[in-house]
Amino acid sequence: MGTLQAGAGGGAPGTEAVGCRVLAVGAAVPTPVVTNDRLADFLDTSDEWVRSRTGIRERRVAPPEQSLLDLAARAARAALAAAGLSGGAIDTVICTSSSIDTTFPALACRLQTALGCSLGPAFDLQAACTGTVYAAGVARALIRTGAARRVLVVGVEIFSRALDWHDRGTAVIFGDGAGAMILGTDADPGSDIVAVRLGADGGGADALWAADYAQVAIEPEVLAPAMAEPPRNLGRVVRMNGREVFRFSTQVLERLVIDLAADGGLRPADLALVVPHQANSRILATAASRLGLPPERMVQNVDHYGNTSSASVPLALVEAVQDGRCQPGDMICLAAFGAGLTWGGLLLRWGPTPVALDDPRQHETAARLAQIDRAATEPTRAVRER
Ligand SMILES: CC(C)(COP(=O)(O)OP(=O)(O)OC[C@H]1O[C@@H](n2cnc3c(N)ncnc32)[C@H](O)[C@@H]1OP(=O)(O)O)[C@@H](O)C(=O)NCCC(=O)NCCS
Repeated sequence: MGTLQAGAGGGAPGTEAVGCRVLAVGAAVPTPVVTNDRLADFLDTSDEWVRSRTGIRERRVAPPEQSLLDLAARAARAALAAAGLSGGAIDTVICTSSSIDTTFPALACRLQTALGCSLGPAFDLQAACTGTVYAAGVARALIRTGAARRVLVVGVEIFSRALDWHDRGTAVIFGDGAGAMILGTDADPGSDIVAVRLGADGGGADALWAADYAQVAIEPEVLAPAMAEPPRNLGRVVRMNGREVFRFSTQVLERLVIDLAADGGLRPADLALVVPHQANSRILATAASRLGLPPERMVQNVDHYGNTSSASVPLALVEAVQDGRCQPGDMICLAAFGAGLTWGGLLLRWGPTPVALDDPRQHETAARLAQIDRAATEPTRAVRER
């Protein structure tokens, strides 16, 4: 991995006039909660170890009947309801996930149909935990060039189906959830996406890595126990160099906040709130201290959701707004980092932007979503079974 230099953002800061803002944000999480103690039932770990190293107490894990599409649609519907928009008002859909269930068709295509969006482009974007911020950056560029009017961005994870539950180094960290942002041109002089920074350094690609199980040459001794008692999550294998990722994350988070604040003519201390990717409470506390920010201005909810990868920034933002921590006119920095290695951030002037957390009691569309999902995934099953 190369050294991060001042201003390394990879993209034009884009501090020009208004034109694109966040119209609404929504989030959804599965209902079942899995505590650290529950993990310690089958993993050589403890609540004390996980809490002291990561800040995580518990995470959500999707039940077998819940699909990625279902979770994505719940977050998207929450955002649409908050914005007072119907699916038809959306002309472009971008999904991002580190635990995607089909290579194709894109999840975004299935979501477009499920929500009744207009037949504009729908595609998936891969930038791991930076995915939602990358997608928002792309959405803003599309909107500013007139290629799109209202873009739905959804980060969704059912990480529990992508983990090796025998690997205590990764199994304790990740969780399931979804977050959605709607970006558009709708006039509101009070709010704005002031600046965007996106970057990547493929030199750190092997620090955090996942591949389809079928494409990984598994050593026989690893495969044998899996065959004796097949674990449920044979989809992917996640490998992480925790220390290297920790070092990268603290450095890049600090750099992103400094650079984004400067893009808006500000110092980090002028920011009302930083909403970072929820990787680990120690990473967030270290970055806050280096930036001279009081801890309460660095949003944290990793304790109850774990690392929800691409969903984590919108999920944290929804909670912060619901707690009254974002007021109109506030300058807010969203900052994410993850595998790639990738990083990205947005500087927002907050408006009266509505947010909503999905109400899990509303299950009215589950059957329809299951139908769309079955149509998309059944050929895959047929190939597997051959
Ligand atoms: C993963 C992380 C918590 C590990 O903490 P660490 O202090 O670096 O721990 P190490 O990996 O050095 O391991 C220390 C010991 O704890 C053990 N250990 C690892 N996971 C454990 C677990 N869940 N429970 C108990 N012990 C564990 C290791 O085996 C090692 O034991 P050893 O000393 O006998 O070899 C930490 O590196 C981290 O948070 N990294 C960033 C991860 C991240 O944010 N990823 C996502 C970014 S998008």
